[in-house]
Amino acid sequence: PHIAVIAGGDSSEFVVSVKSGANVLKAVDTEKFTPWLVQMQGLNWEVFQNEQKIADIDKSDFSFTINNDKIKFDFAYITIHGTPGEDGILQAYFELLKVPYSTCSVHSSSLTFNKWFCNNYLRSHGIKMAVSKKFKKGEAVDAEAIVEDLGLPIFVKPNAGGSSFGITKVKETGAVIAAIEKAWEESDEALVEQFIDGHEFTCGAVRLKEEKVVFPVTEVIPQNEFFDFEAKYTPGAAQEITPARLPEPLFKKCQELTSKIYDLCECSGIVRIDFILQGEEFYFLEVNTTPGMTATSFIPQQISAMGSTLKSIITQIIEEKLG
Ligand code: DAL
Ligand code: MG
Repeated sequence: PHIAVIAGGDSSEFVVSVKSGANVLKAVDTEKFTPWLVQMQGLNWEVFQNEQKIADIDKSDFSFTINNDKIKFDFAYITIHGTPGEDGILQAYFELLKVPYSTCSVHSSSLTFNKWFCNNYLRSHGIKMAVSKKFKKGEAVDAEAIVEDLGLPIFVKPNAGGSSFGITKVKETGAVIAAIEKAWEESDEALVEQFIDGHEFTCGAVRLKEEKVVFPVTEVIPQNEFFDFEAKYTPGAAQEITPARLPEPLFKKCQELTSKIYDLCECSGIVRIDFILQGEEFYFLEVNTTPGMTATSFIPQQISAMGSTLKSIITQIIEEKLG
């Protein structure tokens, strides 16, 4: 079978996605599959080999032609972070073409990529999280009212986005508006969240056949004020410890919560869920349905800490979804 490993996309996370794609490409078992790197940006969908473009994709059937040979992809492994790979858009395209893909469904991807919808849904199932307010682009914002309700500091973030692009920790009323405008550069809506003073943990999971595998929890200790873009992607700017140094009951609690949210959101494929631990309580931050897969990302770290390999997990996902 021909496997398209799809990277790029139309958000600020393009470069991160290209790194995730390169790492997944290496992890596809070439004894079983023929992997190809597909880079997407807008409507430019191109097949790459050794960093050279070799063909354009025919979008009518997700194929390409090389040496007069038409190759139709049998499977899409999506490593685009943000739109259109994490929000249901590509998923809908592949549903139309009946091409199996690696991620959550259309519905589950679009729910989880919209923090506001996802938060309200999960809150109704008893998942704990920060109180937040949503502001549509261009809407009048009363900074004083926000601070009165949520206190300071607060986190301002794009409602749909990743890798901490457009996120600001705001410490004074005078900085609220600029932070919301910055978030609007990434997303049509901004979320303003109450600050939860705690430590960040993250945990991945995947459902393979009937069995759900929950990965070991990772503890994140950023050197910066929070786990911002720099802390995420600069070597040494954050300490990432897998398995997290947590007492056994808390470690389990985080894994159980990950598993519960995975099921509530009807996830599929590899998903990573981020939390803030305050006292003995984990507060939900977000679901990442195309989590970072670069060589140093959390998911590859967690899979290897579990004694498995990315290659083995990816092979199982592809084989199962190919049917
Ligand atoms: N959005 C980044 C890639 C992550 O969640 O890992
Ligand atoms: Mg994220």
